[in-house]
Amino acid sequence: MQIDETMRQRRSIRGFRPDPVPQALLEEVIELANCAPSSMNTQPWHLHVLTGAPLEKVRAGNTERMLAGVPPSREIRAHGKYEGVHRDRQVEIAKQLFAAMGIERHDAERRQDWVMRGFRQFDAPVSVVVTYDKALDEHGPVAIFDAGAVTYGLVLAAWSRGLGAVINGQGIMQSPVVREHARIPEDQVILTCVALGWPDESFSANGVKSVRRGVGEMATFHGFD
Ligand SMILES: Cc1cc2nc3c(=O)[nH]c(=O)nc-3n(C[C@H](O)[C@H](O)[C@H](O)COP(=O)(O)O)c2cc1C
Repeated sequence: MQIDETMRQRRSIRGFRPDPVPQALLEEVIELANCAPSSMNTQPWHLHVLTGAPLEKVRAGNTERMLAGVPPSREIRAHGKYEGVHRDRQVEIAKQLFAAMGIERHDAERRQDWVMRGFRQFDAPVSVVVTYDKALDEHGPVAIFDAGAVTYGLVLAAWSRGLGAVINGQGIMQSPVVREHARIPEDQVILTCVALGWPDESFSANGVKSVRRGVGEMATFHGFD
């Protein structure tokens, strides 16, 4: 697939077929993601790829803790409540997703069910936990930028091969659970995870395309006249 097409068509996938994803294909996708640039070539990222029993344990642990009301416990600073234009964009995508799923505004049960799906990593057959070297934390947020680049690369490379993915902050909201079952070494910080697998074509939210500002709104040009 051409890069333009991949970037334009890619969208978050939140409904997956249960079919397994071969390890060789995941290695191919990860090899491409690993081409990401990084500050001074530090390459501070690590990917922990889960399927089968360890992933089921993460799903169960996340669900159990969220239902028990255990407060979220992330290893990076939480983003808190968005406001202004950021909140508007958050609401916009939520409305698109709920409309696609036929979830009414006041249907608390189905809304809660949707949230819980996120903690179960949308029942994807694979979850890729993205971490970075803790030693770089004292150098500021740049390692997070680098790990973000590899994460986007992963999602794009997956898409170009017919795999779907969603970067899924909910999946690591109970980071101690993920740390235990993915056996994350102490010298790494859990940043996010990516739920990944073959898209379920019948899952209507998979068709949702989020809206972007035009280039004229998000970029300014200087010295081109
Ligand atoms: C850091 C990060 C965390 C995210 N966490 C979640 C999440 O927890 N649940 C979810 O449904 N989508 C999550 N997403 C996906 C975004 O909602 C999605 O990228 C955004 O709405 C734009 O839609 P698109 O990916 O289809 O272009 C996350 C994306 C990023 C980059």
